Amino acid sequence: MNIKEILYNKDSYSREEIIFLLNLSDSVEIDKLFQRAKEIRDSYFGKEIHLRGVIEFSNYCTQHCLYCGLREENLIIPRYRMSAEEILDTAKIIYNNGIRTIVLQSGEDSFFDTDLISYLIYSIKRQYDVAITLSLGQRGFDEYKTWKIAGADRYLLKHESANPKLYSIYHKKAKLDERIQHLKFLKRIGYQIASGNMIGLPNQTVADIADDILLCRELDVDMAAFGPFIPSINTPYQNMPAGDTLMTQKVMAVVRLVLKNVHIPATTALDSIDDFGREKGLSAGANVIMPNFTPAPYRENYLIYTNKRGINEDPLDIHSQIKSRIEALGHNISQSRGDSIKRSSSI
Ligand code: 5AD
Repeated sequence: MNIKEILYNKDSYSREEIIFLLNLSDSVEIDKLFQRAKEIRDSYFGKEIHLRGVIEFSNYCTQHCLYCGLREENLIIPRYRMSAEEILDTAKIIYNNGIRTIVLQSGEDSFFDTDLISYLIYSIKRQYDVAITLSLGQRGFDEYKTWKIAGADRYLLKHESANPKLYSIYHKKAKLDERIQHLKFLKRIGYQIASGNMIGLPNQTVADIADDILLCRELDVDMAAFGPFIPSINTPYQNMPAGDTLMTQKVMAVVRLVLKNVHIPATTALDSIDDFGREKGLSAGANVIMPNFTPAPYRENYLIYTNKRGINEDPLDIHSQIKSRIEALGHNISQSRGDSIKRSSSI
């Protein structure tokens, strides 16, 4: 295949072409891929980077994902739930720091039921002109509807693996089909949706990653989040090798080529396996960073993986470091909500 043609003259990519790009090993060619990804990003978003302030308000989880430190079987980590008041105080800090998207994230924790989540959404939206992203795992269809009406704008639910066999292994027999039905429903009722996977999960192949990208295309995601797998102690995968920085960057760049105008985050996971993970993500076509505002003492216990960067630091310090890191690369921070540019944001 001719790399120049694949990088420049394509509206639509085949599975084979995606695999070809993911397999690039020549550093000059990889660099061309990254350059092209940045060009496409800049053509849609200019030099603007969108920030999303994350609040990890509960680390209780009833799921059993083999890779995740929050899995129910992990009896070692101290569990916490933030109070509604603490969550709203954190939302205020995020808003006062100029960030216009608030991400409410937790394990699958039914203590935060339909009403409590609705209350949080409504209280935040009444006070601040922000977008709200929910990242609460797989919940009820009626709940998604209620939360949309309460004012939620977006839902982040990674599909984790587009290979049904691997999906069932990673998730103790849970079904990929069901996950996809949830994502489709969320999209249909007007959420901007985000999905994605982890790079370097045990037994994952390059063809699997190509299918992950194609599934994001099929789902018409508004944000595609691809970060490295990082082994987490006290999980079945604790001794597995972590995903690779360069491969993660290649995936992000290919996602930019294939999905074009979607939001792509340079993830905390990438920044946790590489000192310059955010920078490397931005240099592969990312346009979003999601600083974590979870306050102490909770912050250090949202341990989805081991050695998560910044858990013992002050969220405001991290935020200002992130801002300087972004600006040092010649980017500027958007003042807007950073809604999807694929279509109007809500029904
Ligand atoms: N490494 C990287 N990301 C992880 N996640 C969970 N466990 C890990 C891990 N070990 C991500 C998953 C999930 C979200 C809660 O965190 O993609 O969607």
